[in-house]
Amino acid sequence: MTKTYLITGASDGIGLETARLAAAEGAAVLLVARDPRRLAAAAATLKGPITPEVAALDLADPDALEAFIGQLDARGYVPDVLVNNAGHGASGAFVDSDWTKIDIMLRLNMNALARLSHWAARGMKARGSGAIVNLSAAVATRPTPYFGAYAASKAFVTNLSLAMHSELKAHGVSVSAIHPPAVRTGFGGADKADLKTTLVHKLFPTVGPVTVARAVLGAVARQRRSVIIGPVAGIVMGTAPILPRALDLAFMTLLFKGQRAAA
Ligand SMILES: NC(=O)c1ccc[n+]([C@@H]2O[C@H](COP(=O)([O-])OP(=O)(O)OC[C@H]3O[C@@H](n4cnc5c(N)ncnc54)[C@H](OP(=O)(O)O)[C@@H]3O)[C@@H](O)[C@H]2O)c1
Repeated sequence: MTKTYLITGASDGIGLETARLAAAEGAAVLLVARDPRRLAAAAATLKGPITPEVAALDLADPDALEAFIGQLDARGYVPDVLVNNAGHGASGAFVDSDWTKIDIMLRLNMNALARLSHWAARGMKARGSGAIVNLSAAVATRPTPYFGAYAASKAFVTNLSLAMHSELKAHGVSVSAIHPPAVRTGFGGADKADLKTTLVHKLFPTVGPVTVARAVLGAVARQRRSVIIGPVAGIVMGTAPILPRALDLAFMTLLFKGQRAAA
């Protein structure tokens, strides 16, 4: 039977590569992002037997999100797989950053992800099957000076995902948290996370978005609770519980200092 995928942030980066892989496997994909033109262009690049659908909306706008969920409910749509991928990375010293940018990021990274997860999980639980994949980050386990609100939002993503996985696995629903290191996407662009000038960007290797997309589909296939991508993410996450806090904070400050504030 044809699998259905709802993928947020699917017009670029990790989301687009995930949509491409899912479509190539024969899935019916619904792509969500804000810019309708970029979305249509992205959908046109998918190669698969089923024509993809698109929905252009701002997930950080709660009214738009509720209207979207209402439309899906009206047609009885519950995806087999929900990929909560859309995310922002406001960076720089918290106090020097523009509040509006931080607020939008928190609404997108946490509220929209939680709302869509809650909605989809109810339908999946009633049906007795489904998978939710949430894009977290390797910094989710670390307080990260100069990337603080972003890392904290990803801690929310990871903890909610792990808790949901435990609640739902007996009902045939898996919830996965994906933890990539830095990924080569537009995420580092001018108006988003600006990590280019930091030591972390200079010292550590990045991965490509296709690697992360493969991990997303792998998490669905194997019903994984958590996926850590590559050795850098492994070290970041593996050392978090064992380092003394003061040392941890000093190290993370060194790595992430030098980012321009999200103005
Ligand atoms: N790239 C990294 O280094 C990295 C590392 C670890 C984790 N991650 C996580 O991986 C996920 C994807 O990152 P990425 O690098 O692939 O991002 P990206 O290349 O910047 O793409 C973001 C996608 O999300 C959409 N989007 C942004 N804001 C939206 C909104 N308010 N409503 C709906 N769609 C929105 C964008 O399209 P529009 O602009 O048209 O809306 C685009 O399709 C994020 O959750 C990120 O935190 C990324």
